[in-house]
Amino acid sequence: MTRIIYVNGRYLPYSEAAIHPEDRGNQFADAVYEVCEVREGRLTDETRHMTRLERSLGELGIPLPMSRAAWGRVLRETIRRNRVRHGLVYLQVSRGVARRDFYFPSPDTLPTVICLARRLSASKSEALAAKGIAVVSTPDVRWARCDIKTVMLLPATMAKQRAKESGANDAWFVDDEGFVTEGGSANAWIIDREGRLITRALDQSILPGITRSVLLDLLKREGITLIERPFTIPEAQAAREAFITSATSLVMPVISIDGKPVGNGAPGLIAQQLRAQFHEAAERAPV
Ligand code: PDD
Repeated sequence: MTRIIYVNGRYLPYSEAAIHPEDRGNQFADAVYEVCEVREGRLTDETRHMTRLERSLGELGIPLPMSRAAWGRVLRETIRRNRVRHGLVYLQVSRGVARRDFYFPSPDTLPTVICLARRLSASKSEALAAKGIAVVSTPDVRWARCDIKTVMLLPATMAKQRAKESGANDAWFVDDEGFVTEGGSANAWIIDREGRLITRALDQSILPGITRSVLLDLLKREGITLIERPFTIPEAQAAREAFITSATSLVMPVISIDGKPVGNGAPGLIAQQLRAQFHEAAERAPV
């Protein structure tokens, strides 16, 4: 099947798709993105993802290229043309094409919009969740506005690659005070001995994860106690359970941190339960 990608208003086979070399996303990482889950032919949490996209664009002063309804059409058409029933849809918006210059180009420069959709194996991600993942800690060397979902992902790329090379699945970033900020591409959580969930409060050092926010709704509904505060690696290693959340990993149990097992070294029961229940709290719109 020929895969199709949306670029600036056109749906093109990959072999014909291109963006300009002087795109600001390419030269300055001057671009933002979203990743949404597609599950059983439905789009997960479109409203929250589009709200965050609009916020990211606003924080960087990139003009909003299209309406909510138009985003919805682009996401759906890209999903449909690639026949994705289970996988992800990726949307990226850059400040557009301009002669290389640090200053912003004229405000009438058109943003570059890219949308792609990709199948993922549902059984593979369930198998991984049943096994749990290993994470390794690494200093958080990213910038001070990690609340904006920009494509400036080199620190995450480096950290995740190093994690992979050491036999782990993901990295957890640690700030200068020794507190975990978040995962390489996910939010980080622990569960203490009393069964309370702990995750860092939202600030500019972490992405306000959509999966995180939906999980907060689920916790409220289930009457599970949540404490929003930072935690350290030793505290996480001594926790009853640990897990990460993201649109692609959902609720993913963490079974070891820097080589030390969390709990009994197997996926925790609460994390598994929350994973199973997650979509009860999520918005699921038809494609
Ligand atoms: N990443 N923190 C970071 C640094 C992330 O990159 C992500 C998501 C999250 C979780 O956000 P959400 O729940 O909205 O997916 C937290 C996506 C999946 C990615 O870059 O592929």
